[in-house]
Amino acid sequence: MDRICIRGGRRLQGEIRIGGAKNAALPLMAASLLTEGTLRLSNLPHLADITTLVRLLTTLGVAIEMNGQDGNGGHAGRTLDLCAAEIAQTEAPYDLVRKMRASVLVLGPLLARCGRARVSLPGGCAIGTRPIDMHIRALQQMGAEIELEGGYVEARAPKGLKGAHIVFNMPSVGATENVLMAASLARGETVIENAAREPEVGDLARCLRAMGAHIDGIGTDRLQIEGVDALGGAEHAVIADRIEAGTYAIAAAITDGDLELVGARLDELGAVGEALAGAGLTLEETPRGLRARRTNGSLAGVDVMTEPFPGFPTDLQAQTMALMATAEGASMITETIFENRFMHVPELMRMGANINLHGGSAMVRGVPRLTGAPVMATDLRASVSLVLAGLAAEGETVIGRVYHLDRGYERVEEKLALCGAEIERLGEE
Ligand code: EPZ
Repeated sequence: MDRICIRGGRRLQGEIRIGGAKNAALPLMAASLLTEGTLRLSNLPHLADITTLVRLLTTLGVAIEMNGQDGNGGHAGRTLDLCAAEIAQTEAPYDLVRKMRASVLVLGPLLARCGRARVSLPGGCAIGTRPIDMHIRALQQMGAEIELEGGYVEARAPKGLKGAHIVFNMPSVGATENVLMAASLARGETVIENAAREPEVGDLARCLRAMGAHIDGIGTDRLQIEGVDALGGAEHAVIADRIEAGTYAIAAAITDGDLELVGARLDELGAVGEALAGAGLTLEETPRGLRARRTNGSLAGVDVMTEPFPGFPTDLQAQTMALMATAEGASMITETIFENRFMHVPELMRMGANINLHGGSAMVRGVPRLTGAPVMATDLRASVSLVLAGLAAEGETVIGRVYHLDRGYERVEEKLALCGAEIERLGEE
């Protein structure tokens, strides 16, 4: 398994191109199942998770062609043409779904297009049990007959799906996306109350509209979908990855550097801008994106609580904790979305961070310097928080199991090295 080695203490200067959003690309690719037409998705990131979903969709019978390699040496997003003219099978097998739980996003489209689906339950992951009960209950309300057996979701809708009034007890990105796609081809109107408002959900809704879906309320917590008989192909560019942008903004602050994040958008960062401003990180809009740097040289501890969008995103919690580890003062970081998203804490403590956990909250007391150490990546965002800590630490940090990192961050060592970081990827440990 690859490792990444960082010698900390270098200020990052320069620019980083923000790639297409992983968490927008995955549902958009699943949407290709809804039509016989060709869906052309551009600005796709080069990530392991995208490759995994390409494999799953190919298994289901989607013809996928990679097109339009950009003109500047492969550093722009990839373009894929996806065409599900024929669906060869409606089973998403365990060995693919367990690699990437977002595979469960094929459930709604397969049910809506073919009237049946057999999708492996994703199983838990490092950050929590991550059930899909809300997906299942909503699809049952739309007329699907669903049984769970042998670790699989067996779903049938022989007479097709019908519109329903869905009220989620809490916002769920995946459940909102599954229902959005299923409702686009259901008979009648579906209303989703307490829908997730993450920008990636809006990106999916806009793509479905381009395919012919009738969707109102995009960007709000109440979505109205009038089903249509069929959807067509479309062309759609994936939005920029706000979590990647936030991660590299924190990289600028933690190294007291100055980075331009090309393609980033302040409005998609929700509460992040304000929270990080309190910590002493200025995000300034530029014609090409955002400029990130410290406001006045020091960092202050701030309290952060993760919430559904537009609140502070759980996907930036670990990165923020790395930043707070070297801030002046204390910071209370509360994780309200997932039950086990503090796997980065013991690793940060190996680097000298002063962190105390109390249930879903972490009390972080800033220390003057972190020290480099061998650490282990456990999940996607925990991994990158260790990279951030390594950039600021004195000495050498070697991070193991970086396959976690490769799932969500494209060429991270290349992007950081181009801005002055002393970072390299090592082979097998
Ligand atoms: C999406 O996961 C993202 N993944 C996650 O990003 C992100 O952390 C999460 O949304 C929250 O923003 C993708 O978009 C591919 P949820 P998802 O359904 O859809 C509970 C990353 O690092 N819940 O919004 O799985 C659930 O357990 C990943 O890129 C149920 O109880 O998240 C969680 O506590 C990690 N029942 C909460 O809701 C359900 O049926 C929010 O989960 C569904 C969810």
